[in-house]
Amino acid sequence: MDIEIVPLPSEKMKTKIVDQSQLGFGKYFTDRMLIVEWKAGQGWCDARIEPYAPFILDPACLVFHYAQEIFEGLKAYKWEDGRVALFRPEMNARRFNQSGDRVCLPPVPEELFLKGIEQLVSLEREWIPTAAGTSLYIRPTLIAVEPVLGVKPSDHYYFYVILSPVGAYYAAGFNPVNILVEDYYVRAVPGGTGEAKTGGNYASSLKAGLEAKKKGYDQVLWLDGRERRYIEEVGAMNMFFAYGRHIVTAPLTGSILSGVTRDSVLKLAPTLGYTVEERQIDVNDLMADIRAGKVTEAFGSGTAAVITPVGKFCYKDEVQQLTGGNVGEVTQRLYDTLTGIQTGRLKDEFGWVRFVE
Ligand code: COI
Repeated sequence: MDIEIVPLPSEKMKTKIVDQSQLGFGKYFTDRMLIVEWKAGQGWCDARIEPYAPFILDPACLVFHYAQEIFEGLKAYKWEDGRVALFRPEMNARRFNQSGDRVCLPPVPEELFLKGIEQLVSLEREWIPTAAGTSLYIRPTLIAVEPVLGVKPSDHYYFYVILSPVGAYYAAGFNPVNILVEDYYVRAVPGGTGEAKTGGNYASSLKAGLEAKKKGYDQVLWLDGRERRYIEEVGAMNMFFAYGRHIVTAPLTGSILSGVTRDSVLKLAPTLGYTVEERQIDVNDLMADIRAGKVTEAFGSGTAAVITPVGKFCYKDEVQQLTGGNVGEVTQRLYDTLTGIQTGRLKDEFGWVRFVE
C-alpha cells in the first residue's frame, strides 16, 4: 500500500527542544503523524503521513466507551555516523497484532507497520535527539472509531503513529527507583488481558500507583491475581532479580507483557557471563532471599524504562534497600551493553538493529 505524504506547511513546523536534558518522557511531539484507516468491507485504506494535529472524533466512538484499543512502544536512535536505527521493530509488529487479537482489532500487516514507521521516522529524522540517554520514542496505536453505543467490535479503525523525542522515563534518570509490592489491587488474571498492550491495563493500575506514590514509591510491582503470591511485572517494566551472577525473572504465563527488552536481557545476559532463569518467584521466598543477602540486585526492563535499577523494595511494610541505593554491576553492564547496541557504540551480534533509509 502506498502512503500519501501530505505537505507540511512551514507555519505548522514546531520549534525543536534545544536543551535535550529537559526532554523528559512523552511531552513533545514531532511535526507529522502516520494514519491508516480500516473500514469494514474495505480493509486497510487511506494511508497518509500528515501534519501532527488533534483528531476530530465523534463522542460516541467505541474507543471512548469500551476501550477497544491497543498501543506499542519502540525507539529510534541516531548513530554518530548519521544512520537512524530501530531496535527490534519486528517484535513490536508481532506483539501489536497479538494484543489486537485479544480485543478483536483487525491485524495490521507487518509490512505496513514497519514501512509506515520507517517512512515517518525518516521524514522526522531531524527530531531524533542525540544526547546520552535520549531517543525518539515511537507510539503506534490502534483505536475503534465507529460512533455507536452497543458493545461490539467497531466497523472503523484508525491505526496511527506519533513520535516523541524523549529522555529517561523516570525523572531521576538512570538511578534506582523505589518499588512497592502491591498486595491488594491486582493488574491481571489468567485469561484476562494482562499480556495485551491495551489501555485498560494501564487505567486500572493508576489507583495503586497513586497510593504508592503517597507512600514514597515510584511504581508498584504486581503479584499474580489468583493467589497474590507470585511476582508479575511493574506496569512499565518486567522485573529481574540478580542472585550474584544468576538472573531470575517471572515466566510469561499470559498475564504479563512479553517485553522486547525482557527478551533482549535474557539473550544478552549469557553473553556477559550470567545465567538466566524464567521461573515463578514467590514473594515470600524473595523477601527471605533479600533478607539473607542472596538477592544482590533488582532491575526492571522496558522500552521506555530501558534498564532501571531498583533501590528501595517494600512488601507488607518490610522495607529493604538493595545495592545500598547504588546501581549494581549486573544492572550497569546490561544497561551499557543494551544501549551500546541500540546506539551503535557496540557491535550488534544479534541482528537486532534495523536501519531507516
Ligand atoms: C513502553 O515501555 O514503551 C511502554 O509502553 C510503557 C509505558 C508505560 C510508557
